[in-house]
Amino acid sequence: MATMPKASTKQTLHSTRIDLSEPTRLKVVELLNQSLAATLDLKTHVKQAHWNVKGKDFYQLHELFDQIAGEVEEFVDLIAERVTTLGGTAMGTARLAAQNSILPEYPHDIFTGLEHIKALVERFAAFGAHIRTAIDTCDELGDATTADLYTQISRNIDMRLWFLEAHIQA
Ligand SMILES: [Fe+2]
Repeated sequence: MATMPKASTKQTLHSTRIDLSEPTRLKVVELLNQSLAATLDLKTHVKQAHWNVKGKDFYQLHELFDQIAGEVEEFVDLIAERVTTLGGTAMGTARLAAQNSILPEYPHDIFTGLEHIKALVERFAAFGAHIRTAIDTCDELGDATTADLYTQISRNIDMRLWFLEAHIQA
């Protein structure tokens, strides 16, 4: 079997009249494509939990996980369209997401609500840290608009981490 080449997030940009320099746009596009991979991956993890959770809290967790997955799906679209707004190419296939995501694969052998909550807490914490770092990176690069997009995502991810952690904090 042929080995899959490591996907590159480096690319040539389309020309645009947007008033951000090409070197800035290149760096931001590369960052956004890293985030796109992680966000697509995270959405599938939350869906795995939505489908496979079992136990006495099945219904409320099944519903909560689906709400969260819907929110993450919206972030996928916001991030991908910021890439194209900046003249880049969105790298958003499942294969690219799997190759480039910062998240570990979701466990396939867990079923209880507590196990799924813990697996999601771990991933939302890692994803949230990535997003917060991205805010600072965009600020340093002088792209306050992308920093604002990341801030919007960060606010939601922090809140959802609270929703998940509240199940294990008491
Ligand atoms: Fe469903």
